[in-house]
Amino acid sequence: MTTVAQYQALAARSHAVITAHQHPGGAYPAAPTFSAYRGYAWLRDGGFTAEGVSRFGDVASANRFHDWVSRVLADRRAQVDRLRSAGAAAPVEQMPPTRFTFDGHDGADPWWNFQTDGYGTWLWSVVTHARRHGLDPARWLPGIEVAVDFLTAFWDRPCYDWWEEHVEHRHVSTLGAIHGGLRAALSVLDGSRASAAAAAADAARQLVLTEGTRDGHLVKWLGSPAVDGSLPACVVPFGLVDAGSPVAAATLAKVAADLDADGGVHRFTADVFYGGGQWLLLSALLGWNLARAGDPAGARRHLSWIADQATADGELPEQVPHHLLHPASRPEWLDRWGPVATPLLWSHGMYLILADELGVLA
Ligand code: BGC
Repeated sequence: MTTVAQYQALAARSHAVITAHQHPGGAYPAAPTFSAYRGYAWLRDGGFTAEGVSRFGDVASANRFHDWVSRVLADRRAQVDRLRSAGAAAPVEQMPPTRFTFDGHDGADPWWNFQTDGYGTWLWSVVTHARRHGLDPARWLPGIEVAVDFLTAFWDRPCYDWWEEHVEHRHVSTLGAIHGGLRAALSVLDGSRASAAAAAADAARQLVLTEGTRDGHLVKWLGSPAVDGSLPACVVPFGLVDAGSPVAAATLAKVAADLDADGGVHRFTADVFYGGGQWLLLSALLGWNLARAGDPAGARRHLSWIADQATADGELPEQVPHHLLHPASRPEWLDRWGPVATPLLWSHGMYLILADELGVLA
């Protein structure tokens, strides 16, 4: 049984972990000590992490992150314009990356880089932060415009998903993030850019509603029968389907039924990464949705489960191995990349979001 004071202490610790590792230039590293992520910042991880920091009330840290992203994306203006001119002929290898070095470069080692969701997540994150704290989003307009131009040109291209897999598919959670980001950005755009953003957001939604559902719930990619632990994001925060709608309710229920074991949520049933453990950030995402759906007890079950996974010094890992889907696959990942990423800043950011959602930060 975790007390409110313990939840608050973990929130303070989460904020401390995130800010202690924030790069002086503003980037939030995904996981400062993990071999494969060290030295890189993802827009997806960082967007959600900044939302947690913004809710915690550290405006300066979130500002520094958004300043960094805006600068990094503004430097990609010529690249994005070139790709837009190439249109359908633009090669996947030349797309801007999903993760950046702290000085904004692609990095030397190869990665599954073409992922559009992070650009949408960042747009949603920066606009939500500005609105929450009464800041003028014009400060981030150079980066916002590049992200919007990139997404309006390429939103419907197949690309790697949140888990950096399956470049051949169009992923529903990716379309959700694009929808949420473009709709959020509408409040700071005008003219033809605003019309293009609105049209792309609507088209993404229509596409999902016609090709991205099965038995009344959202699915992992267009045409798939399966669900994915990231799908609740299509409800809250990205609003691709309305909270409380039958599709939203059926999606949350199916994700819980197929992927939630004791409060910890798997990514998808075929997940072999580190044996397919339970992800803290997905537990928080489901909890956030349950809180919004009027089920605070369900949401608190996830907060409590996450708190139980903290290490003795209050660090939150990416995933835990209590309930592995494919245990035989775990050793090969331990050999290849070492112990699971701990701390994972995205786990801490999502804990802050859920704690705030449940009124624990107040
Ligand atoms: C996950 C990504 C994440 C990255 C950095 C990968 O293993 O699949 O979703 O962005 O780690 O945390």
